[in-house]
Amino acid sequence: MSMNNIKDATILIVDDNLNNLKVLCGAIADYGWEILVATDGETALEQAEYANPDLILLDVMMPIVDGFETCKNLKANTATHEIPVIFMTALSDTVDKVKGLSIGAVDYITKPFQTEEVLARINIHLKLRFLTKQLEEQKQDLEKRVLERTAELSNTLHELQESQLQLVQSEKMSTLGQLVAGVAHEVNNPLGFISGNFSLISQYTSDMISHLKLYHKYYPNPAEEILEDAESIYLDDVIKELPEIIGAIKLGTDRIRNISNSLRNFSRSDTVNKVSFNVHEGIDSTLMILKHRLKANEKRPEIEVIKNYGELPLIECYSGQLNQVFMNIISNAIDALEEYTDSQVNEIDERLNTITISTQINSSQKFVSISIKDNASGMPEEVRNKIFEQFFTTKNVGKGTGLGLSISKQIVEDKHQGKLSCFSQFGQGTEFLIEIPMQ
Ligand SMILES: Nc1ncnc2c1ncn2[C@@H]1O[C@H](COP(=O)(O)OP(=O)(O)OP(=O)(O)O)[C@@H](O)[C@H]1O
Ligand SMILES: [Mg+2]
Repeated sequence: MSMNNIKDATILIVDDNLNNLKVLCGAIADYGWEILVATDGETALEQAEYANPDLILLDVMMPIVDGFETCKNLKANTATHEIPVIFMTALSDTVDKVKGLSIGAVDYITKPFQTEEVLARINIHLKLRFLTKQLEEQKQDLEKRVLERTAELSNTLHELQESQLQLVQSEKMSTLGQLVAGVAHEVNNPLGFISGNFSLISQYTSDMISHLKLYHKYYPNPAEEILEDAESIYLDDVIKELPEIIGAIKLGTDRIRNISNSLRNFSRSDTVNKVSFNVHEGIDSTLMILKHRLKANEKRPEIEVIKNYGELPLIECYSGQLNQVFMNIISNAIDALEEYTDSQVNEIDERLNTITISTQINSSQKFVSISIKDNASGMPEEVRNKIFEQFFTTKNVGKGTGLGLSISKQIVEDKHQGKLSCFSQFGQGTEFLIEIPMQ
C-alpha cells in the first residue's frame, strides 16, 4: 500500500529480544504508525514482502539469520529492495555500523534506545521515503505524459506528411492533367474542321478528275497550250497520285484524332468516383505522352517498348490515378535507361534499350497484374530497400523529388487495395509489378 502521509506509515521492527521490541513499540506507539514485528530474519523477509512497510528497524544480533544477512536478502529482492532499513546496534560497535551502511542500510540507532533519537531518525527516514515515493510517482506520470505527447505529435506529423504528399500529388497531376486536357481541346477544334471538310475535298477531287476525263474523252485533241500545260504540271501523275495523297492525309488526321483521344483519356479526372477503366488504353495514352522521351537522341538509341498485353476485363478504379502510376514507373524506367547508356558509352551501338510491359489476370483470377520491366542497370540492395520512402531519390536536385514511387504505392495499395512490388538486381534491370483487384 502506498503511503500518502507520514502518519499512515507502516514500520516493521525486527528483533529477537522481546524486551527490546516492547521498549521500541512503547516509544513510538503514540504516533499513529502501523507497527509490525518479526522476531527472526526469515519472518522479517516474508513480512516485508507481504506488507511492504515504509521502514524497517533491524536488529543486528539475531540467531540463525543475522541482521546483515537479512538486510542483504532484503536488498536482493526486487519487491523489498527499496524499503529503507535502519540497523539497531550496540553503541560501541563501530565496525557493525560501518558494515550495515555498506550493505545498504540508510542509518543506525544505538542501544540502549534514546527515545528522542529513535523518533527523530524514524521521522527523517519516513519523510525521505515519502518524498522519494512522490518523486518516483511524478517521474512516472511525467514519463507517461511525455510518451503520450510524443505519440500524439508523431501522429500529427504523420498526418501532415500524408496530406502534404497528397497535395503534391494532386498538384502534380492536376497541372499535368490540365495541360494535357488543354492541349487535347485545342487540337480538337482544328481537327474538327479538317475532318469536316475532308470528305468534301475527297468528293470534289474525284468529281473533278472524272470531269477532266470526260473532257478528254470528247475532246481528245485539245489546243497546244492545254497540252503543254498538262505536260508541265505532270497532269497524268497528279491524277494518279491525288487519291493516294488524300488517303495519306486521312491517315494523318486519324492519327491525330487517336492522340487527342488518348490525351483526353489520360486527363479524365475521377478523384471522387471509380470508373470502368481499360488498363491498356491507360498504358497506351501514357506512352503517347512520354513518346518524345522514347525517341533516339544524341546520347542513346531509341527505347523500344515491347507490349505483351493479355486479355483483361475493364476494372473499377480511379483511372487518372492509375495513369499517374504508369507515368511514374515508365518515367523512372526511361530515366534509368538514360543514365545507364550514359555510363556505358562504348556499348551504345550494340545495346537495345527496352521497356517490356506485360499484362495478365493473376492465377488467383482476382487481380489484374501489370508488369513494367526495363533492361537498365537495376539497383543495389541499399537503394532497392528505400525506393518507396518519401523523398528518397538518387537523382540530381531538380531532376527527382523522390515522390514518384511513394505516391504510386499509396495509390495502388491504399486507394485500390492492390499491391506494388519491385524486383531488381544490380546489373540486371528492374521490374515493377502492379496488382489491382478486379472488383
Ligand atoms: N526502373 C528503375 N531503375 C533503377 N532505379 C530506379 C528505377 N525506378 C526507381 N528507381 C530508383 O528509385 C528512386 C526513387 O524513385 P521515385 O520515382 O520515387 O523518385 P525519383 O524518380 O527520384 O523522383 P520523382 O519524384 O521525380 O519521381 C529513384 O531515384 C531511383 O534511384
Ligand atoms: Mg520518379
